[in-house]
Amino acid sequence: MKRTLVTSALPYANGYLHLGHVAGSFLPADLYVRFLRLVGENVLYIGGSDEYGVAISIAAEKEGVTPKDIIDRYHTANSEALRAFGMSFDMYSRTSIPRHVETTQEFFLDLLGKGFMAEKEEAQFYDADAKMFLPDRYVEGTCPNCGYDKARGDQCDRCGAYYNQLDLKNPRSLVSGKTPVVKNTTHWYFKLGDFQTMLENYITTNSATWKDNVVQQTRSWLNQGLGDRAITRDLTWGVPVPLAEAKGKVIYVWFDAVLGYISATKEWANERGTPEAWKDWWMLPEGKTQAEAEMNYLAFLGKDNIVFHAIMFPAMLHGRGNYVLPTNIPANEFLNLEGEKFSKSRNWAIDLREYFAEFPLPQHVDALRYTLAMNMPENKDSDFTWRDFQARVNNELAAILGNFVNRAAQFLQKNYAGRVPELPPHLAKLPEAWRLLVGDVAAYNADTAEAAVEALHAKYLHYFSADDVRIIAALALGARKIEANYRVFRFRDAVTETMNLARAANKYFNDAAPWKTIKDHADDATKTLYICSQLIRSLAIAFEPILPHTSDAMLTLVQAQSTDKHWQSLALPLVNEGAVMQEPQILFSKIEDDIVARQVAKLGSNTHSETMTQTSSNQVPNDQAASNQVASNQTSQNLISIDDFKNVQLRTGKILAAERVPKSEKLLKLQVDLGTEQRQILAGIGKAYTPEEMVGKIVTVVANLKPAKLMGLESQGMLLAANMPDGSLSLVTPEKAGIDAGADVR
Ligand code: 2FM
Ligand code: ZN
Repeated sequence: MKRTLVTSALPYANGYLHLGHVAGSFLPADLYVRFLRLVGENVLYIGGSDEYGVAISIAAEKEGVTPKDIIDRYHTANSEALRAFGMSFDMYSRTSIPRHVETTQEFFLDLLGKGFMAEKEEAQFYDADAKMFLPDRYVEGTCPNCGYDKARGDQCDRCGAYYNQLDLKNPRSLVSGKTPVVKNTTHWYFKLGDFQTMLENYITTNSATWKDNVVQQTRSWLNQGLGDRAITRDLTWGVPVPLAEAKGKVIYVWFDAVLGYISATKEWANERGTPEAWKDWWMLPEGKTQAEAEMNYLAFLGKDNIVFHAIMFPAMLHGRGNYVLPTNIPANEFLNLEGEKFSKSRNWAIDLREYFAEFPLPQHVDALRYTLAMNMPENKDSDFTWRDFQARVNNELAAILGNFVNRAAQFLQKNYAGRVPELPPHLAKLPEAWRLLVGDVAAYNADTAEAAVEALHAKYLHYFSADDVRIIAALALGARKIEANYRVFRFRDAVTETMNLARAANKYFNDAAPWKTIKDHADDATKTLYICSQLIRSLAIAFEPILPHTSDAMLTLVQAQSTDKHWQSLALPLVNEGAVMQEPQILFSKIEDDIVARQVAKLGSNTHSETMTQTSSNQVPNDQAASNQVASNQTSQNLISIDDFKNVQLRTGKILAAERVPKSEKLLKLQVDLGTEQRQILAGIGKAYTPEEMVGKIVTVVANLKPAKLMGLESQGMLLAANMPDGSLSLVTPEKAGIDAGADVR
């Protein structure tokens, strides 16, 4: 039996999920699996948190907590947020579970045993102060390709170059801030080169159905020629390398992360009491190819994850043998926010939790799903704006879909005692005629509903007006078009076509004008409302992938049977005559201007910085973010009153002592005299100032800031510093001499 396994990239559990994650790898996958389930296909949808690797340990260090604290916090919050967002995972797991460690070690040993690994001693940067080898993210320097001076250890964020960390110029350890030394260490390398030909064939076979960006990125990697990739690291946080001689080493996070899909599937199989069932999705039956076995595997992700899923993971799976490979990798580009890249440190982000705090109702979940689907970054980067969100809700969800359902339901309440009307005797066979008509539309292969009216209306004159035929044909044709779009991952088009159906239904109600016909052609009005009742169910099915909550409400409204929830019957009249309807509720309420203005104003301000660790860059007022905010919305600056300002106590302070915080490049631990008392303050200015030059300086201190812990140390205040044009920091100090510690600043 045909099966489709679907995965969404496992987000790192080191931060809250924002709309970018959702639009990139979650929503498209959920639309797809919900659609497949409606069609009745056999589908399994797997996700989870990516919980190992440097991204997690850095987050933990910044806060002075353990990696376990970090992953527990974010895994819990993120799985909850995804559930609230209506994500229909069969399993949402995490990579810190024992089953995952086992799976990863098993893959490692199997590939090692088959000769796909090489053990090599290589030079790497070593931080002599911190006594550790520096993984790529722990070192920064000048890009060997373009000269950018904040290039990461293995990759330049400016020009995109990938290189060996030893090629980095002027390397700096992000742990101690010192220049690292070069020292030898042993690592295991995955011999990707052994899979070059296999992968070339794999891409060629699939290039017709894969997105251009995915094929191009993969080809360009293959054209460079695949070499060995180190897949172990000198770190403590990760899956231990299962070899006696590899003490203190863990498996590279990308090697384990992709296997997270498999361990999560095992977890799913175990939970339902069929521990072997994971194999039905991952392992090929003896002697069959993947195509023969009709096993699909779709990996949804953002463009930054392509190479790992199109090259590394297929090589690992193929090397292991008998595993399925991704049949498609529908990667999305990036979503921007109000014209700018998402940035947590600048507070230019909307995370799901924040959204739900402001917009808590099921209709709001659906509104967000709809807006993101309509703006999905399918082929190029796209933009989420609050104005667009408002327009989508007000002009589409409320004014078209909500309006149709509400008008039809109110009319039924008022004129038909809240029941689906019974057809008059001469139309008793109308449902049968309806089915025939749908069959005819399919057989006739009409392109448009209009063409169907021309060709078929004459045959159904007894039952249907031209408008009736048009709307029924629109449903049948729409279902086909929407399906075609889903099948090729064109979600924007699928959703647009879906809304077009609601538009057609609205027009149908208008044109039929039952409020007029009910006066002297009551049978016509009855038929119109019978058809409208059916349309409510049809639209509920069409919208189910996009608006799951609204869809449920609509099905309940007309008492549609959940057993009739099939894509194939979308266009058929399955609502029973005489069914007692629920009291109609407003499906979507309008979003007012002030709500939108408030949301826009929050961006770039630091009013809700729970998502951000309190490092220096966040404590320093961010000019860039402030000017962005003004540029994108002149009317909604975050103005504060004089009383708000008076709440901030600014005071001059004198630095008595300063030292670096171990393992941090930026943080200095300062003892500051505030006139009346002495405080310990941690300031993120270690890149701009040495401890020596700090001592004796008079600085401006926010004196009534809640104490915070940074890297395990208490900070009892904050220094003001200005962003310099070159990105460095300059302390805000009094202009004139003669000011001592303890002066009020106002
Ligand atoms: O980019 C990320 O957030 C990675 N954690 C994605 C991993 S996808 C898969 F490999 F698990
Ligand atoms: Zn560069």
